[in-house]
Amino acid sequence: MPTHTASTHTARVLPLPRVALLPGDGIGHEVLAEGVRVLQLLAPDLELVSFDLGADRYLRDGTTLPDDVLEQLRTEFGAIFVGAFGDPRVPTSVHAKEILLGMRFRLDLYVNFRPIRLYHDRYGPLRGKGTEETNFVVFRENTEGMYTGIGGQFKRGTEDEIAIEQEVNTRKGVERILRAAFEWARANGKAKVCMSDKSNAMRHGHELWQRVFKLVAAEYPEIKASHLYVDVLAMRMVQAPESFEVVVTNNLFGDIITDLGAALAGGLGLAASANIHPGGVAMFEPVHGSAPDIAGQGIANPFAAILCTGMILDHLGRPALGRRVEDTIRRCLDQGQVTRELGGNLSTREAGDAVLNLLSH
Ligand code: NAD
Ligand code: IPM
Ligand code: MN
Repeated sequence: MPTHTASTHTARVLPLPRVALLPGDGIGHEVLAEGVRVLQLLAPDLELVSFDLGADRYLRDGTTLPDDVLEQLRTEFGAIFVGAFGDPRVPTSVHAKEILLGMRFRLDLYVNFRPIRLYHDRYGPLRGKGTEETNFVVFRENTEGMYTGIGGQFKRGTEDEIAIEQEVNTRKGVERILRAAFEWARANGKAKVCMSDKSNAMRHGHELWQRVFKLVAAEYPEIKASHLYVDVLAMRMVQAPESFEVVVTNNLFGDIITDLGAALAGGLGLAASANIHPGGVAMFEPVHGSAPDIAGQGIANPFAAILCTGMILDHLGRPALGRRVEDTIRRCLDQGQVTRELGGNLSTREAGDAVLNLLSH
């Protein structure tokens, strides 16, 4: 089992050496281009196939994620490499939901694996918390929770209107994400798994999490299972990130705490993630969005996207190359070869050049 992604090659056959590229919107294009250069350098044999899906396409012809494209992704690719989706011209973000959540749900990518890893002390915001202290992973449930869109509106636009958003927690969905967290902890020599919910206020769905967590934890007696309400988790992540090795939580809480975690690890420009269904195609994306505030300026940090390429290489059975990507990002950070939001002066392209230079020497 690889160490830095959650991929479990249960099928034993390696995933196909084909990567689907979905740059998406805004800085998605800019950062993905740098990731692609890294893939081309390190694994020239990989076949890279671009898909024109995103706001431009949606505005042009209404296409979001067609069934035949989804089938192609499922059957013909080992990995999907995504930039970001979201565009001010589509204020409802309907295309982003249908494409991004569409892939997560319809490919049943139930593990959203998001490392919170500070790669260099200089970029951590917390006094006394360096690379040793800030290093854990979040297992975010990725196929249900608050994200299913189940609910409705009644008397919309009137003074009496009602809007209901349902949270879905299935026994199967909860159990499999908890098990994935424990399995990864066991395979990677971790001693602790912390489950986070809000069962003090949400007494149906989160009571299910409590119960199933106890059952699953009992199967892993060597791993210390603990629980924190999500508000306290947020506080502890800032006060004592070293308390955590593996955190497992639901879809919405996982979304929120991984932006918080990104901030602890140097910002969104450094946070990579994997969306996994063990044995199937996996989707890799930076945790950040399309950043309309800086899109088109060539100043976005491509390191999160480049760290995704490390995860992709690992997932495709090339863990040594995956580690090289991580090491190279660490060296760039050490040398101050970084984009503006990290205090450097490199453009997106120059930051990509810095990585390629170090990789080729
Ligand atoms: P965002 O992550 O796009 O940006 C938040 C802030 O971080 C902005 O100030 C942005 O400039 C900065 N930032 C983000 N990535 C950066 C990078 N690589 N380098 C330097 N700075 C970076 O979040 P948002 O502004 O809330 O969302 C913008 C759009 O992206 C929305 O439509 C949102 O729904 C979408 N979104 C998509 C994804 C995804 O596709 N995975 C993730 C998050 C948000
Ligand atoms: C993320 C994003 C998405 C999410 C949005 C764009 C729907 O914030 O990947 O973290 O909430 O999952
Ligand atoms: Mn998010």
